[in-house]
Amino acid sequence: MTLPDPDAVSRREFCKAAVALGGTAGLSACLGRDGGADDAWNDALDRDDAGNVVPPTHHVLRYVDVDRGDATRAAARERIEAALADLERTFERSPAGLLFTVGYSPAYFDRLSGVLPASVDLPTPRPLTGLEDPSFDEADALVHLAADEPAAVLAADEALFGEATAANGVRVTDASDLFDPVDRRTGFIGPGLPREHRDADGIPDDAPVPEGAKLFMGFSNGFAASQATEDRVTIEAGPFAGGTTEQVSTLRTQLDAWWSQESHAQRVAKLFSPTHADEERVGEYGERLGDDPGVADLPEDAVAYAREEGVVGHAQKAARAREDGVPRLLRRDFPTTDGDHTGIHFLTLQESIGDFVAVRDAVTGADVADETGVGSRINNGILQYVFVRSRGNFLVPPRGLRALPDPDPRGQP
Ligand code: HEM
Repeated sequence: MTLPDPDAVSRREFCKAAVALGGTAGLSACLGRDGGADDAWNDALDRDDAGNVVPPTHHVLRYVDVDRGDATRAAARERIEAALADLERTFERSPAGLLFTVGYSPAYFDRLSGVLPASVDLPTPRPLTGLEDPSFDEADALVHLAADEPAAVLAADEALFGEATAANGVRVTDASDLFDPVDRRTGFIGPGLPREHRDADGIPDDAPVPEGAKLFMGFSNGFAASQATEDRVTIEAGPFAGGTTEQVSTLRTQLDAWWSQESHAQRVAKLFSPTHADEERVGEYGERLGDDPGVADLPEDAVAYAREEGVVGHAQKAARAREDGVPRLLRRDFPTTDGDHTGIHFLTLQESIGDFVAVRDAVTGADVADETGVGSRINNGILQYVFVRSRGNFLVPPRGLRALPDPDPRGQP
């Protein structure tokens, strides 16, 4: 039995063939193809009763520049790979242990000789709407650390970037001198956490955020039917096949009016759709939705709908960007109180940054604003409450290339 051309089939198909082949050849072929969009973590994450993926609770985003000092590129690469492999030995690859991804920015690749292959769509970040004036995250790399236990995230953070020489009692190769910290952002996602943190700015201290809600806006997100599959977000061809692209929009939310002026029905209409509000489809915080928020059958009408209802829902608009009925983004966003203010680190994985831009255009809904009485912000989903602070784009390479990849990694030692 022979293995298919890894560039010609999906990762899942390839690994299925590798399993059939078996033995060390199969294993190493599969590991070689592993990582990347597997870093989307779905296989390692739990499911709730309805079948929705449960993201890890605690998150750290470490933005770093790479500073090799006197180290050769090969030596620096080796040391970073050793540090990451040590972390994997130290923690189980699960929310109970530690999950992480490593992404590289267009600015990182631009500084190196060689160009990224055409199969990687990784433009420099830019403003995506007329309503924003963001800063751009152009640090070389973004390391996303996530775990249910805050101590695990902190230990990994300290071992990779701080003074610690061990995590969880296990020695971790010191690569901290190779990284210059640029920024550190944090957040959390889980029922009860927004309610617990409503003393932050940007939300009334007594906002009636339901106990079950995962978001400061009072609802849950990330329902299975509205998420892209790992296959959909995997780069299919070329030397970075098996990888994925990652974008992070750091969004600030201003929810005083959301909680003091809107009724529950208005909140449902703006976040999901007016139909969801009329038919009471959502429940207190989303518990009636199961694994499907049921927005796929509404979006075609968004413009007519907005004209008629005077309001259009956020999820309803976003679903217009589905391709052949299938969502393009694997959203891994989580709320934050960085700077003691409510917000969301809106982190998504997708095959190309173009996929993200298309979805963001659908969310902005300029067509809805132009063609109806609905404003560019007011009654146009949740735009009135959300402010873009920064945008960044990254490539999460497949596992074998996760330490300082060259733009054209063919021939890279
Ligand atoms: C404060 C910011 C945001 C909040 C609170 C929020 C909340 C939600 C909620 C509750 C849903 C429906 C349930 C589900 O997730 O399955 C949803 C769906 C969605 N949102 Fe957001 N969202 C935010 C920002 C964004 C942004 C900036 C984008 C894209 C650029 C986006 C893209 C999507 C997409 C693609 C869907 C699924 C649509 C589909 O079913 O195809 N969201 N969002």
